[in-house]
Amino acid sequence: MTDRELMLMAKEASLNAYVPYSRFAVGAALECMDGKVFTGCNVENAALGDTICAERTACVKAVSEGHKDFRRIAIYADSENWCTPCGSCRQFLSEFSPEMEVLCAKAGGRYVSYKLSELMPHTFNF
Ligand code: THU
Repeated sequence: MTDRELMLMAKEASLNAYVPYSRFAVGAALECMDGKVFTGCNVENAALGDTICAERTACVKAVSEGHKDFRRIAIYADSENWCTPCGSCRQFLSEFSPEMEVLCAKAGGRYVSYKLSELMPHTFNF
């Protein structure tokens, strides 16, 4: 699968975002080492801190289905800025695949690419 195809899946996933509070829809498409892709969107809650980001939705779907080795994640938001993952999502994804690639898009679909370890060095662990 190409980066663009993965990003398109992230964009489609953003259509399912439940965002009555922020109105900021995010979609993610997480590609496993075996090629399987899990998508996710952000799911907000009236208790705002209980909101789950798109990246973590995709990651929890994957891990709960027995997939823990990730190659890439594409993140899409119809935003002016590159939609980079928040700190919690960086830590969360690093648990499984710190060297994975992170594709961060902005409105129109252009994207930038990082290594997760570059976005989140020295992750917490014990
Ligand atoms: N959000 C994500 O889904 N992923 C991120 O990496 C950053 C933020 C969501 C959470 C919330 O629903 C909305 O974007 C605004 O913060």
